[in-house]
This record gives sequence, structure tokens and C-alpha cells, in this order.
Amino acid sequence: MKFSPEQIPAHIAFIMDGNGRWARSRSFLRQRGYEEGAVSLRRITTHCRELGVRETTFFALSTENYLRRPRREISFLMKLLKTYLVKERAMLMDNNIRLTTIGDISSFPSDVLDALHETRTLSAGNDGMVMRLALNYGSRQEIINAVRALCADVREGRLDPDRIEDISEDVFSAYLADPQMKDPDLVIRTAGEYRLSNFLLWQSSYSELWITDELWPDFEVEHLEEALDAYVRRDRKYGAVVDSTSREASGNSGGI
Ligand code: FPP
Repeated sequence: MKFSPEQIPAHIAFIMDGNGRWARSRSFLRQRGYEEGAVSLRRITTHCRELGVRETTFFALSTENYLRRPRREISFLMKLLKTYLVKERAMLMDNNIRLTTIGDISSFPSDVLDALHETRTLSAGNDGMVMRLALNYGSRQEIINAVRALCADVREGRLDPDRIEDISEDVFSAYLADPQMKDPDLVIRTAGEYRLSNFLLWQSSYSELWITDELWPDFEVEHLEEALDAYVRRDRKYGAVVDSTSREASGNSGGI
């Protein structure tokens, strides 16, 4: 293996952009881009598992996409999601991967919700890696929901209104969509845009970012390894000043 286990990021989050452009550049319908995107999703998920990554999060559908894309495109994505959830059960079970989601899925068609429920339940006991799909997800909405839930706890006496200084980052994080989620160590965005697009804004405060021009359907294992090569070479300082002697003493340049 090219990387040692301690060099592998525990959590990698992906913004899978460029499916539409991939299709357009080949004069295909956009739908074909999403189908190829789903193939890429499987390839990258299984490779992350082989590398020993503990958590992956994939931005599969943003709230903005869900509200603004033509209905027929959303309806196609719903069908693709359902097919994916059924087809990938064997992959999840063979690789000991637990599927989970974040985002507001309450308005999804009932057959998609059923497939999701079944795949989540089936894979619930898997502990090799988490595969988290962000579906109709928006980070600002997630933060507002957390604030509302926290205020409700204050109102109902579960948090002491005279001790609001006790509301720490850890207390707040427990109100986010997936309280089990560790902050991503690395966020990878394909298709060359330099922005987070309302994805994991709280959780990615200290994440390393890797942006590549590759379009998501073209994102291969070698591109992931290129991102990891760059990641292991970076100093993660979390705002601290790092003196080179202590870094040499600790024997690595990551995870300070
Ligand atoms: C945004 O870029 C991406 C999406 C709206 C969806 C990504 C979805 C997949 C990769 C499909 C596979 C996932 C599942 C779970 C079925 P865009 O594709 O609109 O790209 P563009 O900016 O090039 O038009």
C-alpha cells in the first residue's frame, strides 16, 4: 500500500460536480452523466474502504438542486437513487459498509424512502466504513435546524437558560444532522469550482480542500490518490504556529 494507515484521512467528503458537463461534452443527455456519476460513486466508495478510510460523505443532491432543477431531472435522480440503493446492497454488505444519510428526505417518493430504509437497516451493523449520502442537504438549513432544536431544549428546561456559556462547540455539534459524524479531514470537489456550495460548513472549518478539474464521472482511483498525496504533504495546523523542531520530533507533518 502506498500510504501508511495513519496517513489516511479518517473522513473524506466529496462534492461530486460535473456530471452534466461530462454528458454535454459527449452530446449525451444529462441523465447519462448521472448514471456515470453513480458508477464513479461506487468505484470511489470501494477504494476508500480498501484504503482504510472510516467515513465518507457524498453530496448527492443539494437543497438548491432539489428546489431549482427541472422536475423531470429530479424525478430521474430519484429513480436512479432507488436503483442505486437496491443494486449496491451487495457492495455494502461485501465491504462491511454502513449506509446513512443527512438532509431532508421527507418529501421523497415513498418507494425511494422504502428502499433507503431497507438499505440502511440491512447495513446498520456494518462497521468497516460509513457511506453517508447528503440528500436534499444544505448546511445553512442544518445549522438553523440545530439552533431551533437547541432553543427548544432551553425553552423546555433541558438546557439551563442561566448557563448558556456552557453551550460549547461539542454541545452544539450534537444538534447537527449526524451527531456521530467526525469533521472531514479532506473535502474533495471535482469539476474545478472553488467553493463549498453550502456543504458541511460547520464540519469543514479545518478540513483540507482538494479541487480538481476532473469531472466526477472521470474521477478515478488515481485522482483520489493524487488528492491523498497532496493531503499527506500538508501541515494541518488548526490555527497554531508549528515549530519545525516539534514537527520533526513528532515524526510526521500531519495531524498537529
Ligand atoms: C451537481 O452537478 C451534482 C448533482 C446534482 C448530483 C450528483 C449525483 C450523482 C453523481 C448521481 C449518483 C448518486 C446517486 C446516489 C444516485 P451536475 O452534475 O449538475 O454538474 P454540472 O455542473 O456539470 O451540470
